[in-house]
Amino acid sequence: MTEPKDRLISPGRRDDDDGDLTIRPRYLHEMIGQNRVRENLSILIEAAKARHESLDHVLFYGPPGLGKTTLAHILSVEMGVNLKVTSGPAIERAGDLAAILTNLQVGDILFIDEIHRLGRVVEEVLYPAMEDFALDLTVGKGPGARSIRLKLPHFTAVGATTRLALLSAPLRARFGAVHRLDFYENGAMEAIVRRAAVVLDLPIEDGGTEEIACRARGTPRVAIRLLRRVRDYAQVRADGRITRAVAQQALELLEIDDLGLDDADRKVLNTIIDKFQGGPVGLQTISASISEEPDTIMDVVEPYLLQLGFIDRTPQGRVATQLAYEHLGRTPPPTTAQARLPEL
Ligand SMILES: Nc1ncnc2c1ncn2[C@@H]1O[C@H](COP(=O)(O)OP(=O)(O)OP(=O)(O)O)[C@@H](O)[C@H]1O
Ligand SMILES: [Mg+2]
Repeated sequence: MTEPKDRLISPGRRDDDDGDLTIRPRYLHEMIGQNRVRENLSILIEAAKARHESLDHVLFYGPPGLGKTTLAHILSVEMGVNLKVTSGPAIERAGDLAAILTNLQVGDILFIDEIHRLGRVVEEVLYPAMEDFALDLTVGKGPGARSIRLKLPHFTAVGATTRLALLSAPLRARFGAVHRLDFYENGAMEAIVRRAAVVLDLPIEDGGTEEIACRARGTPRVAIRLLRRVRDYAQVRADGRITRAVAQQALELLEIDDLGLDDADRKVLNTIIDKFQGGPVGLQTISASISEEPDTIMDVVEPYLLQLGFIDRTPQGRVATQLAYEHLGRTPPPTTAQARLPEL
């Protein structure tokens, strides 16, 4: 199986984050795009500050690399509070969460990444913690056991997930603000590339910015990664300046096409078309036939192909659309339109 992080345009996790500390916007006004989310958050922050209260619990969801972690950091900076970072898979036992919660101070933000991966038992500790700022502990064993309730400081839980659907309803309901992050518009993507080039001190022309922005699939993390690879190419094969031509050559060598599709995206589309006559076909089947993790297909490949209108999701599975055939230079079979109709 291919590791998601091996893919250049896979918005894989954390491996690019160390060099990103300066690229990551620190304040809300430094963040580009996601205007509605930013506006809502600025109201949330201002209101909480004026009332001298801690922030309400916030949940961010959306595809990887769009700024969920960045926003959690921004919230703590804007509120002037500590940020404690953890993740669903990292909290194995209820006791682990209890230890984290009892160490929080008033106002602190507890960022829980991949919150959909919290275990059931752990989640049940989180419910009263978020709702009543209370921790229920069982003391003693057997018939003498009794339950005591510890008070917790008023903290703020910030959750992030790429899979809102996997979050249990009671957990979702405990977040006062739920924000969906969408793929960025082209203008915002260009601004993000320009800003990253300034931070990295790279000479880049408008043409170069445009080429990178339009192939970064609406995802800032991808844009920053592509910029780094183009920088390498410019340094080794040119004079270091990122012109349109240099960017085009570098991205072509990386096999990233003009819509930002890479080898894995094309493999998914070609598999649906060639092996399954355009679909419908289930995601697990696609995953098995191209040896790609279902998670990668679901989190990274599929959302972007859906956004481009290259695949449709039907109850029977995924279907390649006319647009996908056209982009790949293939002729759609005359039955495509029929195949898309749900079976009776
Ligand atoms: N609006 C933005 N403006 C500038 N840079 C951004 C913006 N959003 C994200 N970035 C940059 O993109 C990268 C990825 O963002 P981030 O880590 O916040 O994504 P994420 O949504 O948490 O992804 P994942 O789901 O994989 O955890 C970071 O380096 C961040 O600096
Ligand atoms: Mg993140």
